[in-house]
Amino acid sequence: MQLVLKECTIRPWRLDDAESIARHANNRKVWLALRDAFPHPYTIQDAHEFLQQAISAQPPTLFCIEINGAAAGGIGIRLGQDVHRHTAEFGYWLAEEFWGRGIMTEAVGAFTDFCFDNFSLRRIYAEPFANNPASARVLEKAGFIFEGRLKNNVVKDGNLLDSMRYARTK
Ligand SMILES: CC(C)(COP(=O)(O)OP(=O)(O)OC[C@H]1O[C@@H](n2cnc3c(N)ncnc32)[C@H](O)[C@@H]1OP(=O)(O)O)[C@@H](O)C(=O)NCCC(=O)NCCS
Repeated sequence: MQLVLKECTIRPWRLDDAESIARHANNRKVWLALRDAFPHPYTIQDAHEFLQQAISAQPPTLFCIEINGAAAGGIGIRLGQDVHRHTAEFGYWLAEEFWGRGIMTEAVGAFTDFCFDNFSLRRIYAEPFANNPASARVLEKAGFIFEGRLKNNVVKDGNLLDSMRYARTK
């Protein structure tokens, strides 16, 4: 799998991504937008553990966003089960130094198309926290439809937050 886009390439993770990913992921601003399972501080050991897991998963669902030859973020889906087996949840993050250049909008659009083409999915959704308008905007620009505000859905950094559900369907 390799999606070569204008500003980045989406490709499988490699064990030698650890150093770059630990450097970029060790950012409180990134952590604040993600689940607590995403470590903070983010150590090189965290990167090694993540990469082992991502590389061995079958089918692979987590991928690297590469910019200028180095890992600069992650993008992936979590496949649903049972009655949700045609549904997947979307997740992504990008190194702060690359924010605001349209990179994730392009990545989200292309990766969503890839997922619909390569998995048996009818629905891909994301739930950015309500204090993350940049992510909501990325989803809107990538063709996701706003489905509603989930009140008090998340506790992050001690704060009770709403989340905003967006989906693309096929
Ligand atoms: C959210 C994130 C993925 C955005 O990536 P990016 O490459 O900077 O996004 P883009 O440049 O493609 O688009 C960002 C859009 O948000 C807008 N935006 C940025 N900050 C904003 C704010 N505070 N309020 C409203 N819109 C905002 C930008 O103006 C842009 O929209 P525009 O093109 O209409 O002007 C990136 O900031 C990130 O990784 N954040 C931390 C992790 C995260 O939030 N992951 C998603 C969890 S659901």
